[in-house]
Amino acid sequence: GDDYYDEPFRPQVHFSPEIHWMNDPNGLVYHNGEYHLFYQYNPAGITWGHMSWGHAVSRDMVHWEHLPVAIPEVDGVMAFSGCCVVDHHNTSGLGPDDAPPMVAIYTGHGHGKQVQNLAYSNDNGRSWTRYAGNPVLDIGQSDFRDPKVFWHQPTERWVMVVALATERVIVFYQSPDLKHWEELSRFGPAGVEGKLNWECPDLFPLEVENEPGRQLWVLEADMGSGSIAGGSGGEYFVGDFDGQKFTPIQSARWVDFGRDFYAPVSWSNIPPSDGRRLWIGWFNNWETCLVPTSPWRSCMSVPRTLTLHQVPGEGGQDVYTLVQRPIQELRSLRSGRRDLDTSAASWPPVAVTAPGELSDMSFVLKTALIPGTERSCGIRLRTGADEFTEVGYDRQGRVVYVDRRRSGTVDFHETFAGRHEAPVRTIDGRVTLEMIVDRSTIEVFINDGEAVISDRIFPSSQQPVIEVFAGGETARLTDTTLFPLRSIWPD
Ligand code: FRU
Repeated sequence: GDDYYDEPFRPQVHFSPEIHWMNDPNGLVYHNGEYHLFYQYNPAGITWGHMSWGHAVSRDMVHWEHLPVAIPEVDGVMAFSGCCVVDHHNTSGLGPDDAPPMVAIYTGHGHGKQVQNLAYSNDNGRSWTRYAGNPVLDIGQSDFRDPKVFWHQPTERWVMVVALATERVIVFYQSPDLKHWEELSRFGPAGVEGKLNWECPDLFPLEVENEPGRQLWVLEADMGSGSIAGGSGGEYFVGDFDGQKFTPIQSARWVDFGRDFYAPVSWSNIPPSDGRRLWIGWFNNWETCLVPTSPWRSCMSVPRTLTLHQVPGEGGQDVYTLVQRPIQELRSLRSGRRDLDTSAASWPPVAVTAPGELSDMSFVLKTALIPGTERSCGIRLRTGADEFTEVGYDRQGRVVYVDRRRSGTVDFHETFAGRHEAPVRTIDGRVTLEMIVDRSTIEVFINDGEAVISDRIFPSSQQPVIEVFAGGETARLTDTTLFPLRSIWPD
């Protein structure tokens, strides 16, 4: 409604709850024409606590309708992260005869342990009943959480991936009916060493875009701290899954090179006629999660499509890299298009928009950076007196970076100010960027999604302009286009 949603830091094209605290996306599922988004939610306050499943639905993954809390905290047991499936064959017996139930599989956290529970809905997710036989999986552990379940067609059974968090182990289970679970195998510890934990795993097959016919599996896991840009973040393994066991074929890679993309999970039950693998992540970092907003805290990333690319690796050998792109549905929010003339780019930076023009505007900005023989070139956004967020290419390190050290309010946590780098390749001498800038968020999709940097920013500038810079005459920016975006919230 119009009481909320126009605060200066309120994202206009990203999902956020009207009020109170949110963390991980949960239970992403498509059913009967609706995309469901559940999320870790505190119905009682603006910090973490009383974790419950908040709920929203959408017909396009862009505009969201808020619904009441789906799964509340009950008797001191919180509803932690998990997933949702549509049980098409009613294997669980939780549906009526003529329609498949929606079944949520989530972690019950309380009384000293974490167990896996079920809740189900037979009215398109509008009301939820906790299964009377809960828990369905209890191994007496206190850090055993975040189940992700999918139907494995070749073996005709359900497969679950779930984290033994402090051991940094992912356990694979199978079930005929979502109620009885049997261990299949384990994976880990692996990946980045010596870090805190693993949570919120996901496992899915993906096509390799530039190797037609090749399909590989991606196992994703999130670490509470120790990630590439500091604090929490995700890593993934590319390999094979035979229905029993996951076998990686290369070492772990980072999901996102910014500080603020955590616990992504993919939608289940996307129809084969669509065929996309889609996910969304929490646009935040546990280390700096007490961001300066009220009466709500946190938003989600934009939904992203996933594929794989085979790309040249460090040691000369090709590797598979995850490619993330904003969903094309977001294009419906574009309210115009302006080509920006960046031919005067030099040092110091020069403005390419008029003062005031971009106040409060959310936008997509596309550009190609051609570094030539210079050290760097790039863009400054959300500028103000002594304030800017810089996105550039650094030829020495061969990285694209987002520098938010002077982006506005940075002092609410000592590790917030920083510069976050993604290693990238130049393709025909250039690096392309597609940025989504949305009041307190920036997502930079590099080389058509081969790397992403997602960061929160809290600018104070009232008359921001876009500036461009090039460290010398051989460097240039080209094909720079601005697309203003309409808000997804009703006025
Ligand atoms: C990840 C996480 C999950 C847990 C949830 C609790 O951010 O710690 O492991 O289920 O948040 O809110």
